[in-house]
Amino acid sequence: MADPIIQIEKLSKQFVSGKQTKKVLENVNLTINPGEFISIIGPSGCGKSTLLRIMGGLDTDYEGSVYFENGPIKGPGRERGFIFQDHRLLPWLTVEENIKFSLPESTENVEKIIVENLEIVGLQDVRKAYPKQLSGGMAQRVSIARALSNQPKILLLDEPFGALDAITKMHLQEEMLRLWEMEQITMIIVTHDIEEAVYLGQRVIVMDTQPGRIKQSYNIEQSIPRSRVSPEFHRQKDKIYKEFFEEKLQTFYYTI
Ligand SMILES: Nc1ncnc2c1ncn2[C@@H]1O[C@H](COP(=O)(O)OP(=O)(O)OP(=O)(O)O)[C@@H](O)[C@H]1O
Ligand SMILES: [Mg+2]
Repeated sequence: MADPIIQIEKLSKQFVSGKQTKKVLENVNLTINPGEFISIIGPSGCGKSTLLRIMGGLDTDYEGSVYFENGPIKGPGRERGFIFQDHRLLPWLTVEENIKFSLPESTENVEKIIVENLEIVGLQDVRKAYPKQLSGGMAQRVSIARALSNQPKILLLDEPFGALDAITKMHLQEEMLRLWEMEQITMIIVTHDIEEAVYLGQRVIVMDTQPGRIKQSYNIEQSIPRSRVSPEFHRQKDKIYKEFFEEKLQTFYYTI
């Protein structure tokens, strides 16, 4: 088997503000193999975004070890692309300029990169448009094209479809699976949505809170194309819901 693409061992993280110290992640261990599609779910505040930021090299202040392809992660890198809930396109630049801006100055064949990646997300026609002229789904597609233009080995997605309507969200989920198959990029998606986690992930990692930690990991056995209506899909979804969220939601209900 190939070496892991990400290897996290005994990761702990705390935030210090003034005299207060808040333990956010405790003893997180996680190995991700190249080409895997991993979903991470868990309650709000359990440290999902913090974990993703650490994997992306946006936060390097932690205890334990976090390795990317056998080397410690020292900062952000083009091989690890980020996609956030908001598209984060620069409003004063057109679609093509946004993509160009994300590439290093020395990049050759910029034109070809722009064309190819807009084609992948089906947006060849909007390259001269400004972000405000796009729908939410289109803008998020552009941010996916922008990330792909940098030829990442990993895409780190932090609730990427959380702000979209249900239909657009389903379309983009399909697109993500298609991309994953086509480009063989390792995908790590953080989501609140159990259905999304099970639909996309080969493995669903469930985190818990205070302090944030990994509670359980589920292998999802599904063929591609995946089905949202198969008994197996519902069985997997229901199992995760029952084991982790039902009790929490009932407790919440009875305490309000
Ligand atoms: N820069 C920061 N300074 C201090 N505390 C922080 C900082 N960033 C995050 N935290 C705290 O760390 C904890 C985990 O935050 P994080 O954003 O990783 O959670 P999350 O699981 O992504 O939550 P959500 O599902 O709401 O996005 C929270 O309690 C948050 O308040
Ligand atoms: Mg978050």
